[in-house]
Amino acid sequence: MEDQTKTIDELLECYPEKPEYLIFLLQDVQSAYGYISPESMQAVSDHAGVPVTQAYSVATFYQSFRLEPKGEHELRVCLGTACHLKGGQRIVEALERKLNINAGETTEDMMYTLDTVNCVGACALAPVMLVDENYETNMTAMKIGKILKKIKTK
Ligand code: FES
Repeated sequence: MEDQTKTIDELLECYPEKPEYLIFLLQDVQSAYGYISPESMQAVSDHAGVPVTQAYSVATFYQSFRLEPKGEHELRVCLGTACHLKGGQRIVEALERKLNINAGETTEDMMYTLDTVNCVGACALAPVMLVDENYETNMTAMKIGKILKKIKTK
């Protein structure tokens, strides 16, 4: 099967070599590869004509940019107001203990990435966690083991 991912050079070619395209370049690299590697960051900053430190500043300012590769599955716990009030933080802490990582990190086996997000629009079913693109609602710490087991058996 042919690899559908564009090479970094193909992505860069889509934009003029100007600093004002820095964010677009970073967004395209992230959506193609899931994160921005040090090599990609260097290529983007060279193309945009900005120092690599400036590209890093932009990437770290916006929470949506990821500088580490993501795990096979993304666990995102909502910490919007409703979910926070109904124990969203306890879900995060239980996942951190269970997976032995902190929010924002990926397990060593590259299986799970744990993140927190703001309201995902299902407040009536709080607390909510997204497993990849699926909603797990009325979350409790007790449900975590079963959810992780279900992911593994897929
Ligand atoms: S606050 Fe979590 S879904 Fe709205």
